[in-house]
Formats: sequence, structure tokens, C-alpha cells
Amino acid sequence: MYTILDGKETAAARRQKLAEQTRVMLESGQPAPGLAVILVGEDPASSVYVRNKCRACEEIGFLSRTYQLPCDTSERDLLALITTLNRDESIDGILVQLPLPPSIRQTAVIEAIAPEKDVDAFHPENLGLLFQGTPRFKPCTPAGILALLDRYHIPLCGKHCVVVGRSNIVGKPLSQLLLARDATVTVCHSKTEDLPSFTRQADLLISAVGKAGLITQNMIKEGAVVVDVGMNRNESGKLCGDVTFESVAPHCSFITPVPGGVGPMTIAMLMENTMAAASQRRLAR
Ligand code: GUN
Repeated sequence: MYTILDGKETAAARRQKLAEQTRVMLESGQPAPGLAVILVGEDPASSVYVRNKCRACEEIGFLSRTYQLPCDTSERDLLALITTLNRDESIDGILVQLPLPPSIRQTAVIEAIAPEKDVDAFHPENLGLLFQGTPRFKPCTPAGILALLDRYHIPLCGKHCVVVGRSNIVGKPLSQLLLARDATVTVCHSKTEDLPSFTRQADLLISAVGKAGLITQNMIKEGAVVVDVGMNRNESGKLCGDVTFESVAPHCSFITPVPGGVGPMTIAMLMENTMAAASQRRLAR
């Protein structure tokens, strides 16, 4: 029998804790932490993510500001908005939803965000701190995965963790967080030859590719822990992960569902980073 790694419930408990901390802040006369979320264009998936992030802010009691900019926004205008938000005392965290339209350089935008307000932890300074083992903020999806595994007391020290996907948002930073927890880490990607020969060695298998049906039963070691970061739509429009859940789950000790696994944890960690940013900025004053 396998156990479901319930991200929905775990994230709700963490948000509840943040709501209590925010209430204490407000009662002691401090302002609530503030998060600014910028969305350029109208990508439907990005719009849903942004709406969920803003809803989480409001439920916790954070100040939430959303900037929905048209898809023909210039890089210069976007950078000007970021500069304004960098200086805005009521804003502790700034998030620019990715991907951006091709006319805007993602690196220029990420580098414009003040590292102290970079709650995604995408800025090169924050990536450097992460790789050094002394993170200022932990990237939200990788941190959410670790928080979920910890909630179920799943050991990482000495375990073989196979990460499928090498994105800047998930695969690369996740490999660093796992290394910092003394796991043995293998990172596989689209050019990996004989992917199943690697995944079958995994005590912990994490798929962050975005390809429905990528991970099948024959790729799993009996009793493995499987974490599915995929967010795909199947032919009928239903949300599904990278893992063929029904056939894989019976071979696992623990597995995340999609939806209700990693997704809610990502948002909870964004909220925790915003709280941490607020606390750090107030201490620095
Ligand atoms: N697009 C997909 N995931 C993320 C994320 O975690 N942060 C931002 N800013 N954009 C994303």
C-alpha cells in the first residue's frame, strides 16, 4: 500500500500558521507583509497561477498587489515598474510570473528585482547563495517538495534522488537543496540516454518535465517515493502530472497526486518567503 503525500492539507496548515503570525504582526502595530505579482500577457495557465497566489495572500492577510500588463508591454516599462516596487516600503516581495513574452529578456527582468525582495529566489545573487549552501530564500517549488517530504518524515540523507528535468525553476535548484540534505543526486533531462535505467535506481524520483505519461510503472524501483511536479492537460482538458498515477502508485511507498500535491506547496512556500522577506527587511532597518 502507498501513502498519498497530501500537499493540499500540508499547505493549508502552513498558510494557517502564517495567518496567525500576520495577525500578531498587525496587533503589534506592524504592517502586513506585502507581495507584488506582475503578469505580462494573458497566458491562461499563468493567469490561474497568479490568481491562486493573490488569493493565498488575501486569505493569510498579506497586502497583495497584482499588475496585469498587456502582452505588448516593453521591457523598459516592465523594468521601470520593478524599480518603483523595489523602492516601495509597503512591498516586501516581488514576483514576475514566467514565462515572459519573447520580446522581453527574462534575465534582465530577474536581475532588476532587488535581491532582498526576490521571493522566487531567481536572482543570480540568491542563486549564488543557494549554491553556496547559505540561501537567503529557497526557491518555492523545490522548497515545497522538501517541506512535503519532511511532513511525512521521509529520509533524504544518503538516499539516491533522481531528478528528471533541469529547469532553472525546479530541477537545478532542487538538486542543490537535496545535496544540502546529504542526498546522492542524479539529474536527468531530455538528452539522457536510457532514462529508465536511472529512474529505476531512485529511492526518491522527482519528475519536473511537463510531459504527461513520461513516468511509467517499469521505471520505478519497488517502494520508491515519487514526486510529480508536472502540470499538464490531457486530451479531455483534465489536469495531470508526468507520472501515470494509476499504474505507478501501487509500486510506491509514497506518491504525490496531481492536483493537490506539489502545486499548493509552491504557493505556501512563496507566502513563507514573503513573510521571511518582511521580517528580514524590518530587522535590517
Ligand atoms: N512560472 C512557473 N513557475 C513559476 C514560479 O515558481 N515563479 C514564477 N515567477 N513564474 C513561474
